Amino acid sequence: MRILAARDYDHMSRQAANIISAQVILKPDCVLGLATGSSPLGIYRQLIDWYQKGDINFSQVRTVNLDEYVGLGEDNDQSYIHFMRSNFFDHININQANTNVPCGTNPDTEAECSRYDQVIKNLGGIDLQLLGLGPNGHIGFNEPNEYFAMDTHKTPLTDATIQANRRFFEKEEDVPRYAYTMGIRNIMQAEKVLMIVSGKQKAAILKEAFLGPVTPKVPASILQIHKDFTLVADEEALSAFTHEEREKWNIE
Ligand code: GLP
Repeated sequence: MRILAARDYDHMSRQAANIISAQVILKPDCVLGLATGSSPLGIYRQLIDWYQKGDINFSQVRTVNLDEYVGLGEDNDQSYIHFMRSNFFDHININQANTNVPCGTNPDTEAECSRYDQVIKNLGGIDLQLLGLGPNGHIGFNEPNEYFAMDTHKTPLTDATIQANRRFFEKEEDVPRYAYTMGIRNIMQAEKVLMIVSGKQKAAILKEAFLGPVTPKVPASILQIHKDFTLVADEEALSAFTHEEREKWNIE
């Protein structure tokens, strides 16, 4: 586990965008695992900027997104497929046929989950998976639980997640109660994992996830044992780490 400290959200976004850009330059047809939420927005803006300047080329890149709300389709502006197009895909030269998001409107859960696992398999696995950190320690929509769900699955969203995502919807009743999400095995099998975390409100959960025990009660904690995991966190998010903990993890 490698922990990089960033001054603030913009600095975190640039550092993470640099890592993604290096991946695309070194392997132009790489498979990027992508995430939604507020955390990656700065990365997408930075990558679009570098694309517009001619510094990065997405023409051969393939993508798989972590998750999607059950019941929301591409015409719903809160769906993750809509988020990805409007915040990233529509602004770069990616072939949209090479982008994948679980299909929230497929009512056949079993079919959708095994289809998505097969999509990842057919791509040859994920080269670099980008992750945010849920306020309760979730990754994708792998919510705190008694066990780690391995493959793509449909999950009920916890109250904490519904509350956290409430801000994007007009009324609380509009927040979907279920999501399709990659499982822990899908994420852990990625060659590299990159997590970004920003803000004071994530400080306690960040410390619990990476300095506490590995447990499905804090799903992100499993990343402690990933073979190539990089965390880029800003100073506010790192504010619960003590001086000794920073030294131990070589955080400058
Ligand atoms: C959502 C997404 C996660 C994301 C999390 C944190 O629930 N499913 O992939 O990491 O929210 O979001 P934010 O970055 O807005 O804090």
